[in-house]
Amino acid sequence: MVNDMMETHYRTDMCGELGRKDVGRVVTVCGWVQRRRDLGGVIFIHLRDRTGIIQLAVNSAADKKIYDAAESVRNEYVLQVTGKVTLRDEENFNPNITTGEVELICDDIKVLDAADTPAIYVDENDNAGESVRLEYRYLDLRKSTLQQMIITRHKTAQAVRSFLSSEGFLEIETPFLTKPTPEGARDFLVPSRVQKGAFFALPQSPQLFKQILMISGFDRYFQIVKCFRDEDLRQDRQPEFTQIDIEMSFVDAQDVMAVNERLVKYIFKEIIGYEIKNPIPVMTYREAMDRFGSDKPDVRFGMELKDITNIVKNCGFKVFSSAAETGTVRAICAKGANEKLSRRDLDALVEYVKQYGSKGLAWFAIGKDGIKSPVTKFLTEDEMNDIMNQCEAEVGDIIFVSAGKPKVVFDSLGALRLHLADKLQIEKKDGFEFLWISEFPMFEYNEDLKKYQAMHHPFTSPMDEDMEFLESNPEKVRAKAYDLVVNGVELGGGSIRIHSRQIQNRVFKMLGFTQEQAYEKFGFLLDALKYGTPPHGGIAFGFDRMVMQLCGTENIRDVIAFPKTQNHGCLMTKAPIKLCDEDLEELGIKLEENI
Ligand code: AMO
Ligand code: AMP
Repeated sequence: MVNDMMETHYRTDMCGELGRKDVGRVVTVCGWVQRRRDLGGVIFIHLRDRTGIIQLAVNSAADKKIYDAAESVRNEYVLQVTGKVTLRDEENFNPNITTGEVELICDDIKVLDAADTPAIYVDENDNAGESVRLEYRYLDLRKSTLQQMIITRHKTAQAVRSFLSSEGFLEIETPFLTKPTPEGARDFLVPSRVQKGAFFALPQSPQLFKQILMISGFDRYFQIVKCFRDEDLRQDRQPEFTQIDIEMSFVDAQDVMAVNERLVKYIFKEIIGYEIKNPIPVMTYREAMDRFGSDKPDVRFGMELKDITNIVKNCGFKVFSSAAETGTVRAICAKGANEKLSRRDLDALVEYVKQYGSKGLAWFAIGKDGIKSPVTKFLTEDEMNDIMNQCEAEVGDIIFVSAGKPKVVFDSLGALRLHLADKLQIEKKDGFEFLWISEFPMFEYNEDLKKYQAMHHPFTSPMDEDMEFLESNPEKVRAKAYDLVVNGVELGGGSIRIHSRQIQNRVFKMLGFTQEQAYEKFGFLLDALKYGTPPHGGIAFGFDRMVMQLCGTENIRDVIAFPKTQNHGCLMTKAPIKLCDEDLEELGIKLEENI
């Protein structure tokens, strides 16, 4: 047996670990029936446990009791089987299972538990819809692909713990029943029965607690921890997800980035044997936006944004010339797209960018017999040539132009670039392109709320050289914040924190908090900052996202044993549930009529 630790009173071996080396041994294995084939006179059963599948063979010439037992079993029955490991004839080798050179000739079969006909077929090729698979998650989780991803998640957590412990980090837990934390999503609230009318908030991250642990002198902290955010879900978001949360004392941004670079290199090497290039390049936020229209650029392919503001500033197309004055005009060039995109596709792309707030999207399709575009008539030949040169465009390409407010233009073209890469099946570099994004803006203006918000969170330190603009020109202020991006996914983000009360108060003021409001929300941190705070900073990785990368899946639900759906529900447990009147009364809660 490869792994003696798995031996119990029920079994000697694991199904998937048997092989040529075991031929002649009498072993006992346990598992689920994957399938049963009755060839008349001989029954073959595939028995499965988490390590894989072994074929059992039962001959009618053998003991009738065993043959009857083999005949009675159905898919997903749980069996305990004893038999002799036997080499198969070479023409019967099964390359699809790891144990395919051998089979178990059964001496005894015990049905440990029968099973109803399963609601979904436990097979990789099962094509049940995702909602029925989530409802019967326990069956879906029996599939090897999902089990392997959950196992990779376990190994990754082990690797994180071992690496960080070796670098002096202490694993410390922080509370789930707490006060609202500052990550910018809505909170999940928990009513207190003991203090009626009062609510806990589940943490959006342990941000404030980890800073307090630094103030308490622990120096280096980490935690693999659940975070809760009530926000709209996308492909790589869950309302409860897991972070690798890290904080360090007496460090600057380079120190934090260096340790974390070692951490991700260790994980990728350890888990999938991948060598991350050394060192991970650093790109400023400004450059990322200018070149890719995104703060999490996928740099595995080109199609970079080009600035054509200056070229069109005096042109006859009002949309361009006025945007050139008050905003920006940028372009991307889709190589060889002219043959691949129909007029209808182009109309769909114009609609596509509207979800990013864009009023339109101009395009120039460069054909052998001239340029087709709804707007060429407004441009001179020189202007058109300059645009082509700036975009390095050739016959066969299509140039897309967005004009307007910088945020809208970057969001639209950044998304269009990714969308076109998929649609045109643009080849991307193999492997993982890691990138640090640095020098984020400190503040973001929220048009709806008409106020500044912290782009990372309000405890992030402004860059020293920008401190003087904090009040006079907040949009110019950059933060000591950094994100780690891989292949267009934000894997993690962090910052150096403010460790001076005065600066913290100035930042709160910029964010529109009065002294009282700041105190009400974060008073415990402001108090703690009075008693000697080390310079400190940290980062948090999306652990689920990291495991997704390691497993090569784009579905976050694949790497979470019991995930939630788009509308925050669990189809297996049917949570969340409505409470009865007595339960609500005990909590001092009265619902409005008709809820
Ligand atoms: P931030 O909010 O950037 O930073 O979160 C850190 C990382 O967590 C992951 N993440 C998510 N993963 C799945 N589902 C979600 N809903 C979700 N939201 C975030 C992302 C992200 O990069 N306290 C700070 C960290 C710090 O400053 O140290 C924080 O939480 O991969
Ligand atoms: P309109 O004058 O609105 O009919 O637009 C004429 C063309 O310009 C259409 O192809 C629009 O998609 C395009 N367009 C409109 N607004 C913008 C914009 N903000 N940026 C780029 N192109 C635009």
